[in-house]
Formats: sequence, C-alpha cells, structure tokens
Amino acid sequence: MKESYQKLLRNNREWAKSELAKDKTFFEKLSAGQSPEYLWIGCSDSRVPANDVTGTKPGEIFVHRNIANVVIQTDMNLLSVLYFAVDILKVKHVIVCGHYGCGGVNAAMQNKDFGFVNNWLRSIKEVYAKHKRELESINNIEMREEKLVELNVIEQVNNLAKTRIVQRAWKNSSLQIHGWVYDCKKGLLKDLKHEMSRIEDLEKIFRYNL
Ligand code: CO
Repeated sequence: MKESYQKLLRNNREWAKSELAKDKTFFEKLSAGQSPEYLWIGCSDSRVPANDVTGTKPGEIFVHRNIANVVIQTDMNLLSVLYFAVDILKVKHVIVCGHYGCGGVNAAMQNKDFGFVNNWLRSIKEVYAKHKRELESINNIEMREEKLVELNVIEQVNNLAKTRIVQRAWKNSSLQIHGWVYDCKKGLLKDLKHEMSRIEDLEKIFRYNL
C-alpha cells in the first residue's frame, strides 16, 4: 500500500505541469524574486489557506500563521516576518484573519488544562478578560465564541499598531492594517472594518516619538 504522503508529491508534479502549460515562464518569473503587496497573519488551521480563500497566486501574499492568529510582542518569529514584510518587501497591507470555529479560541474559553498550549492561549484569555462584560452578555455560547473570534482579531490588529515596525512604516510611508474573519461554513471573508493606518488610530500611551 502506498503511503498517503506520496500523493502530495504526485500532486505537486501535476500542479507544476499544469502551471507550465498555462504559462511557460511561471516559475522562471517567480524565481526572480517576490514583491507581495500583502502580509497575512492567520490561524494555522488547515481549513483557512491564505492563497485559496483570497484567490491569490504564489508571490502575491507573504504569510505568517500560528494558533489563533495572535500577535505577541515577544514572538521572534512573528516580529521577524513583520519586519521583513514591512521594511524589506514594503507590503502595503497587513491582514489579521481569524476564523469562526477556531479551536484555539474555543480552547481559550475553557478552564481545561491544555498543557504546554496554555502559554499560547493565555493571550486570548486576556482578550476575554478585557471584554468580559460584552462577551458574557451573549448567552448563546456559539455566538459568544464568534464574538471572541472577532474581538481577538481586533486586539491583534491593535497589537500590530503598538510595534515600532508598524509605527516607523506609518511615519515613512503608508501601511494599512485590517481585521478580517473567515466563515468556514460559507467560505466567505468578513471585513471587521477595524482599519488602522496612522499613529492617531492608536491609543496615545502606545505611540513612540520616532
Ligand atoms: Co483557528
């Protein structure tokens, strides 16, 4: 019996062939370099692939994904991706995209012990604590969870704005940060309309004199 992973290698060969059939120079052009216009910060969930849900091709979106799409100020991985995307690639938009039915958000709403993952989920519990009154006014648990998914995205957009990387970009060029939620049941993206594009959008205490 063939191992299931071999299917992926076979698919890859077919995909490369079909792309070449459409455009002989497809890989040649891509190998010359990248200049994506967007940075996507999304959940690691296998059901929310950045390129597929946005109808974009290789080369169009720079991607960072982690459990429950959080922006943590000590996360070297996230900060390195953000720095490279903003300072070097000069992306114009950063999109934080959460999704309804997020296992990470669901876990953070419980008091269950998830072992090592507790550390990662704690920042979502902080979002919950901050918006406790609004969340607990929603009696339907599924709807409360959906609200936390949205609030989590909004707080992560705010966290991006608090970084020196984003504030420098606002000073020297233009950069927009957006908060979106993907609805797995419909396949549709929802813009939460929580856009930040200038230092004035951020609470004063977090602004740096750059
Ligand atoms: Co998720």
